[in-house]
Parts: sequence; structure tokens; C-alpha cells
Amino acid sequence: MTPSLVRSLFAVGASAALTAGATAQDRVEDLLSQMTLEEKAGQMTQLTLSALSSGRQWTDTEHELNVEALRKAIVEDHVGSILNQFDAAFTPDYWREIITAVQDIATEETRLKIPVVYGVDSVHGANYVIGATIFPQNLSLAATWNPSLSTIAGEITAFETRAVGIPWNFSPVADVARQPLWSRYFETFGEDPHLVSVMAAESVKGQQQAELNVAACGKHFIAYSMPRTGKDRTPTQIGMVELLDVFAPPFQAMIDAGVDTMMINSGEINGVPVHASHEILTGLLRDRMGFEGVAVTDWEDVIKLHTMHKVADSEKEATRQAILAGIDMSMVPYKTDFADHIVELVSEGAISEERIDLSVRRILRLKDKLGLFEEPISGPEHVQHIGKQASLDASLAAAREGVVLLKNENNALPLASGAKILVTGPTADALPPVYGAWSFSWQGAEAGLYPDTPTVLDAARTQFGAANVSYVPGASFNEELDLAAVTSAAADADAIVVCLGEPPSTEGPGDILELELEPAQLALAQAAIDTGKPVVLVLIENRPRVFTQVDAGAAAVVWLGEPGPFGPQALAEVLAGTLNPSGRLPFTYPRQNGSVVTYDRKWSEGSPEVFANGPQRPLYQFGSGLAYTTFGYSGLRVTDRGDALTVEVTVANTGERAGHEVVQLYVSDEFASVTPHVHRLKGFEKVALEAGESKTITFELTKDDLSVIDRTGRKIFEPGGFGFRVGDQATRIDWGN
Ligand code: BGC
Repeated sequence: MTPSLVRSLFAVGASAALTAGATAQDRVEDLLSQMTLEEKAGQMTQLTLSALSSGRQWTDTEHELNVEALRKAIVEDHVGSILNQFDAAFTPDYWREIITAVQDIATEETRLKIPVVYGVDSVHGANYVIGATIFPQNLSLAATWNPSLSTIAGEITAFETRAVGIPWNFSPVADVARQPLWSRYFETFGEDPHLVSVMAAESVKGQQQAELNVAACGKHFIAYSMPRTGKDRTPTQIGMVELLDVFAPPFQAMIDAGVDTMMINSGEINGVPVHASHEILTGLLRDRMGFEGVAVTDWEDVIKLHTMHKVADSEKEATRQAILAGIDMSMVPYKTDFADHIVELVSEGAISEERIDLSVRRILRLKDKLGLFEEPISGPEHVQHIGKQASLDASLAAAREGVVLLKNENNALPLASGAKILVTGPTADALPPVYGAWSFSWQGAEAGLYPDTPTVLDAARTQFGAANVSYVPGASFNEELDLAAVTSAAADADAIVVCLGEPPSTEGPGDILELELEPAQLALAQAAIDTGKPVVLVLIENRPRVFTQVDAGAAAVVWLGEPGPFGPQALAEVLAGTLNPSGRLPFTYPRQNGSVVTYDRKWSEGSPEVFANGPQRPLYQFGSGLAYTTFGYSGLRVTDRGDALTVEVTVANTGERAGHEVVQLYVSDEFASVTPHVHRLKGFEKVALEAGESKTITFELTKDDLSVIDRTGRKIFEPGGFGFRVGDQATRIDWGN
């Protein structure tokens, strides 16, 4: 299915919504004027499906809706929003049954007939819909360095989510990954603010195409990705300059792309829980960044101001703090007393009714924009288009473009045709690590919920012929199993493919104590290396796990992250050489546990020479990745056009087969009022080049692009010298004096 077809499938719903748009203001104001305070408070309340259910969905149980609890929540407690599955993916038809029950009660049994806005985490495809198209996790999508894949993934995800009746998607994660210990690293688009901004904004544009009637949700505002210890939802300490320079740009890019909703960081920044910070939720998000949509809390985070963060001595006081800080809706998510607290707080004069109206107006406008008043659940005819071949092809394309070949000594890859391969390791014959968390269940670990797609081992057998592929488990994630069997099986093999990595996990359950890969896996890799056969290390992991100890002995290293259903096929194609790899690392791969430094470090953290050659140099650099061809650069030229700069460079495919190069433009601000980064990515373009072909690529940079956050927090352009680098080309200019 082509993207435009995806859009056209929802054209009918869209025209209804557009007509509604013309009268949106009137409808919302009209409703607001009729609503009781209790009804308004209910609109700001979001419950989770499990609170409205009497049985969970799992491998051996079927979900059961508690219709009485649902009716009470919607009719008596005026609840305006519901979220989530319970606990595993549903079929499209069953989703529609649930949403129909919800919307029927809301639009037929309540006084004002306001539809519910249902939200879900479709974070890499509609991952809670059985049969939906699953995409690579964001980190692997970012490794494609192809923004159009983020647009298409967003579009198909939104289509398939809306097809089952859900108009609100808690995605994309726009957190910038700077702390690899953090369990949600794989949910990000990597460590660089520009790359994250581009990919996140494209996801929003893809999801929020008018015809689809879906709201995206940028999350988690702000600096959630940088807990000091790396443990999820633990304190972040961060200065204003870094906050605005590193973490704000992706959120700004999503706001500029029109993102309808934002979810708030569950953690604290500099001692203040973000959910209680007026400075961040109103001063920064609304006043400075211009966000006008709905700000929803994360899971239980109003209550946690009282129970965990302990800045409020009661849940009611927590409610007061969060609302005055700037939240519009609370993902409560199990009970409705949040709404009761609002009513009391307004009656006591602690919160004005105007403040409540502000939030309710935003929520009603969202419902209106999504076409829910006209069509609370869109037509069943869309279900048949879920998981269509063309959508699967888009996921395959993303998996293919995201394979990063980090090392290829003496052209160990591609493997010769007819080669005999020994496949081993904990990620070789398992699907959950390949898909990652948020796959059919929250942690994604339940293999019994997965569809029957090929593992790496299956894909290798298909690609190379079953007779040429042998398999020995070797090690589980944390235990050696049969290293001796690996050694003996290697005798018949021409190469050993060692599949390392992590089981899927996220949030608290994904916290780890050590960045280094488990000793059992390092032992497995070493045993393979010790056989003297060429070893290909394959990394299927949630974040960069340190494996330096076995890197030198490996002939080739391939990083996949969590590439989704087609990752194994894409890997097999790269191993066989039918696919020329074109992924690039969206993060810096650390060499040591104790030396995690991002590529855009400060000068005190290492000049380019020290960074590239010193003992603390990363194992693999941000932006790196090889192909089965070579590329060369020439003619880097910067032209001053007054208000903007034009940067031109010519890239050539100097090898013997067609391939893709990612042209990356890095800029250094030579001197600045705050310490400048050694360099920063300011533009990139993925270019297809036939053997021998060359193309000239042009980037436009404005003064805004080269601005800094100064010591007072203003974003300003400081005239002076700027250095430019693309590949091995470098030049500089003075600008703005
Ligand atoms: C996560 C969010 C998610 C929410 C709803 C939270 O625990 O932090 O990213 O959207 O749950 O499932």
C-alpha cells in the first residue's frame, strides 16, 4: 500500500472532520458553556483499560470488559479519556468491539454526548494490534538516516491504529539519548538533537496527515532520557543551557510540525518533578516554545507527586500542583478521585474555573479535530487494509536501510556464496529481542504472543540454504550453554555468525547494572574467535552494550538494534551481499563503561585527534557505517548569502557497486560565549549513487541554525568563525561580523 493510498482510505472521515473544523470553535465553546464542573473535571481524567476490565488478555486468557465499570466511569464520573491494552495485543475486530462499547456509552448515555478520546502506545507500528505492520524501533529507524522512512512508518502506524478505532498515539519519543544505561535508549532516535528533531518531526507529519484523524503525542517533555544514574525515572540534574540546547530542539521541531499532544517526563529535574514545574510546563513548553495542544501526564504521575516525589502531602495537593504547573489531562490511571480533587480545589478557590476551562477547551478541540463528534469510531472497512503487503514492504525497507556494518576486515563480508555458516548466540533464534519491547505486550518478552516471522537463523537458512547453515545455541543472555559444541561445529564452517545482545525490556524492568555485555556472551564470542574461523558479531540490543573485549578478534561487526520483523532478512541479505548496507550509527558506541562521551562533546572532553586516537576514543563513531563500496568527497564550498549560507559538496561512489552514502555536515562554532561543541551535525542527506557516479549536495544554513543558547538562556546568533566538515573535507568562514 503506498502512503498516498493509506491517506485516501480515510478521506471520508477527513472531510467530516474538516467540516467540523469550521465550526470547531463554536461547538467547543457551546459545550463548555453547558458543562458542569464535574463534567469538566471528568474530561481531564484518563483511565486505563485494566481498571475497566474483569479479565486480562494473555496467551491463555481472553480479555473481558467490565461494562458496568465502564458505564460508571463514563456516565457517572464523566471520564473523557481511556488508554492502553490489558495486557496483550487484541485483534482488530476485538479492538473495535471495545472502542464501540466505549463510544456508544459516551455518545448515547451521557448528557452532552461527548466522545471519549482513546489513546495507545503504537510506538513502532500498531504494536498492540494483532496482524498490524510492525516497524523497527526508533533507534534502528534512526540508523537509516532516511527521514522519509519515519514519515511512512508514522503514516502506516497511524492508519492501522485508527483503523481499529483509536485516534491518539503516544508516539514519537523525542527524547535525546545521552545516557546508554537508560532502559529506553532504543525508543529514541539517538544522541543527536538534529537527527532526533528531523526524525521525530517526520513521524508527527506522517501520523497527523489530515485524512488520518490521528493525534501524535511527543514524549516525554523534557530531559527524561538523562537520569543521572541511568535508572528509569530517577533524578536528572541539568543546566539551563544543556536543557535548551540538547533536549528542547526535538520538541520544538514537533511543535513546529503541529504535534497535537505532549506527554510529560515522569522524573525530576534539578529537584523539581517535571509534573509540578510551572517553569517547565508553562514557562518553557507554552510561553517560550509555543505549544497549544493537550499536555497529558505520564502514568500515575500526579499521584506520584505525593507518593514518590513527596512534594505534595496529599493526592489533592498533588492535583493542585500539577494543574497549576500546566497539565491538561491526568493519566491517573486507575481511579477517578483526580476529578473529585479538581471539583474540591475549584470550590475552595485553590484553582480557578478559568484554569480548568483552558484545559477542557484544549481537550475538546482535540476531540473535534480528530473528527470524533462526527465519527466516534471510523468504518470497519479499514480493517482489511491492516498489515497489507505494501505496508510490510515499508517495514522491510526500513529494516534494510537500518543495518549498520561497523567493521569489515579484509572484506570478510559478504560471505562467499555456498559458504558454510555456523550461527550461534542468544539472539540467533528468538524473535522478542529482534522486535524489542512494546511488541504485543509492554515488555515484548512473551514469545507466545508473536506472529511466526523468521528469526536470524531462519533467515540465514533461507538465504544460504538450510544445508549450509548449522546452529548451536552457545549461550543464553547470561549463561554459557555449550561452548565446546560451538568449537566442534566450527570445524565444518567457513564463518561463524555470533548473535549477541539483550532480551527486550523497557522502563523500570529494563534497568541494568552494567553497560558491558554479559560475560557469558563475551565468552561465547571469544570461543568463536579462538576457533580461528572468521567471526561476524551481530548486535541485537536495546542500547550500545560494551563488547570491546571481543571486537578486535571479530572479522566483521553488524549492528541491528531492534530492527523488527524484517531485520533477520535484512541481515541475511547483508551477509550474503545481495543488500549493500547503508545504515549509520545514530549514537557513539562507547569503548569502555567509564567513558561515555557523545560525538558533540566539549573541547575539554577531547579534540578530534584525541577523540579519534586516544585511549578513551569510542569504539565506533557517531555517524559511522560501511558499505560494500567506497565513497569520496570533493569541493566543499561555503557561500555567504547574507542571511544564510549555502554549503556544497560533491560525493562520489568510488567503488564498484551501487550504494547509498549518508552525507553528514558538521559545523564547529570556533569561539562562543558558552563553551562550544567540538562540532555539531547541522544537515544530512542519504544519497543513492551508482558505481562511479557523483552528485553535488547542497545544504542551506540560517543564522538560527548556527545560534547558541547564551548564558542567560537566550537563543542568539554570535558572529564569528565557523568550521565546516563533510567526510574528509573541511573549510571555514567568518560570518555575521
Ligand atoms: C510510559 C509512557 C507510555 C505510558 C502509557 C508510561 O509508563 O512512560 O511512555 O506512553 O506508560 O502506556
